[in-house]
Amino acid sequence: MAEAGTLHDAFIDELRDTYDAEKQLTKALPKLAKAASDPTLRQAFESHLEETRRQIARLEQVFESLDEKVRGKHCDGIAGIIEEGKAVMEEDFDETTMDACLIASGQRAEHYEMAAYGTLVAWATAMGHTDAARLLQETLDEEKAADEKLSSLAEGGINQAAAGAGQPDEEEDEPAAVGAGAKKTAAAKAKKAGARR
Ligand SMILES: [Fe+2]
Repeated sequence: MAEAGTLHDAFIDELRDTYDAEKQLTKALPKLAKAASDPTLRQAFESHLEETRRQIARLEQVFESLDEKVRGKHCDGIAGIIEEGKAVMEEDFDETTMDACLIASGQRAEHYEMAAYGTLVAWATAMGHTDAARLLQETLDEEKAADEKLSSLAEGGINQAAAGAGQPDEEEDEPAAVGAGAKKTAAAKAKKAGARR
């Protein structure tokens, strides 16, 4: 019977999986950037693409620090997340709704990576691979920051814009319902209400 695998074997396996996931993401991120309408969102995807390339180089350093060959192993998890993202991009959503959906896809990928790097850091630490642990922690911090950036874009206007995009008239009248505009708005509302009857 073959000898049972160790945590070290599982660790190398997980590194290969993550290396492949990052490579898949360098192909997916330009598509997310291209599909984004909001310039800040597009820029966030583009800068994360640059960051992802540096994360790939960092993983290569991790392999080297362990005297392991640099090698990837197909990551089914991220492949599934990327597939779902592609399906969303094929939908006929209005621009802001599409942006909100692109953020949702991006955050799924970020959380998948955060889980992977979190495990890698913990295992490297447990086995005393301090250089590897430090490098992996740097990437984990970047993934968390990228996730937070997406949350701030979503909550800082994109979700609200998407929520408003589907409902024209009445929502847009609300801000005018103070001061001089109030009477006019009330009249407009009464007219609209009348039209519905
Ligand atoms: Fe990454």
